[in-house]
Amino acid sequence: MRKFFKKMLTAAVTAACFFMPVSSQVEAAVERNPVTVTNARWYPAYHIAPYAGWANDPNGFCTYKGDYHFFYQHYPYATHWGPMHWGHVVSKDLVHWQNLPVALEPDHIYDASGGCFSGSGIEKDGKLYLIYTGHVDLPVISKDYADRIESQNVAVSDDGVHFEKIAENPVIYAPKVEGVSQSDFRDPKVWQHNGKYYAIVGSRTPTVDPAGNEAKGQIVLFESDDLINWNYKNIIARAEGNQGFMWECPNFANIDGQDVLIFSPQGVKPEGNKYLNWHQSVYMLGNLNYNTGTFTHGNFDILDYGFDFYAPQITQALDGRTILIGWLDMWAGKFPEDTDGWACQMTVPRELHVKGGKLLTTPIEELKSLRISETSYQNLTLTKKSSLKNISGATGELIATIDAKNSFDIELRSGGSEKTVLSYNAKNNIFKINRAKSGVFVESNNIAGNKTVEREVKLNPASEIKLQIFLDRSSIEIFINDGEAVMSTRVYPKETSTGINFVPRSGSMTIRNISFYTLGEGIPQPNIK
Ligand code: FRU
Repeated sequence: MRKFFKKMLTAAVTAACFFMPVSSQVEAAVERNPVTVTNARWYPAYHIAPYAGWANDPNGFCTYKGDYHFFYQHYPYATHWGPMHWGHVVSKDLVHWQNLPVALEPDHIYDASGGCFSGSGIEKDGKLYLIYTGHVDLPVISKDYADRIESQNVAVSDDGVHFEKIAENPVIYAPKVEGVSQSDFRDPKVWQHNGKYYAIVGSRTPTVDPAGNEAKGQIVLFESDDLINWNYKNIIARAEGNQGFMWECPNFANIDGQDVLIFSPQGVKPEGNKYLNWHQSVYMLGNLNYNTGTFTHGNFDILDYGFDFYAPQITQALDGRTILIGWLDMWAGKFPEDTDGWACQMTVPRELHVKGGKLLTTPIEELKSLRISETSYQNLTLTKKSSLKNISGATGELIATIDAKNSFDIELRSGGSEKTVLSYNAKNNIFKINRAKSGVFVESNNIAGNKTVEREVKLNPASEIKLQIFLDRSSIEIFINDGEAVMSTRVYPKETSTGINFVPRSGSMTIRNISFYTLGEGIPQPNIK
């Protein structure tokens, strides 16, 4: 017994030593920081978000000494984009996160003027290596010269908290080979394969060639024995047709025996109701030949059909699953929470699988640990707009299996004139989300200049439709049919708009099973004074 208490005491003291200095550093950083969260109406309960200030892309998502580390593009001094820092959170279970001090600041010649742009993380010899893009803005003296230089740099930590930029930086410059832009060359993703390290970098061909062709996005592959000395291998994929002028934020993994390349193309033009967001995030299935550096692949396909999803990062979980977290926001839009001292958030972690030539996306099992109470009903046939007792909330998880014979709507975050409408059309199997009345209106712009309030996905014909919906204070993520499609969207309703309504659209609506879970908190909540 005594031994047990001694062990517990040692564990408690070790934990306190590990966390105390760090949390006080976080507080110190927060104090230094002129920006604090002043209103938590839209601040997420369980989605990763900046403790204050601005956040964009996920960065450095990896495991280190048995913990999950997640970083994000961060500007601590305002609620808009600014010279990039890396915000940092850590978790044991991918669901409950602690804030750590800002990991990277722009303070070296290769990153000071523009910032520490996106990159990835990997554990090597007990150390945590971050490889990121140093972005340098150059004065524009002539249109014939680049206005920026992007190079790849390494920072190392042996405690998972403090990072040192290495003397050898930059470790990767844009290769001086034909067809690679020297200025747009960023967002390295590193992984290990058969004892060697590989990195892919987002890039494009040089701007408008003499024949007047627009630049084409592409992904460049490098190889290394030590994460510091890198050799150029090849350009593994390049845009064809309407596939964009720049490919950012590449990721790579072998999932279920299939190589998968994920990236975020800029400049894809809308095709009907497809590619309606400002930028896209897509995947390609293929096969990477590590000897030749060639990637044989098919076409790209959309990863998420909602309004707000970009720059996703993947990592291998401790048990081997491939986990993805994306930015649950979109460029060229508005971020109404920026008046509350913070801006932007991440998606819930998602598990990826390859099946039948498609990438399937489901929320990770660990999210069940957020569940507090459950309300369930079976076999309900509704003939008019209905709500169900204890099925409502600004946060929560809704799981439902609904007969797909008839069309229906589900109204989420409903209250007064506010509602976010999901609708299923049984005639064409199209599932939509409409945020015209979701609260504070956020415009969705696309590069064709259209403003839209709806997103849709065409589902495979089936007798029922299975929904798993995560609601947080300003976001909705809808997972459909066990991974067939996912739609992620920010919404800005009043805190009191918590209703959920079920609306039959052609005769009756049959709900075979429905459960609603209230959910607890997964991230530190702002301390509003
Ligand atoms: C994508 C991106 C990245 C870049 C980062 C800068 O959203 O443009 O390519 O590294 O944002 O914040």
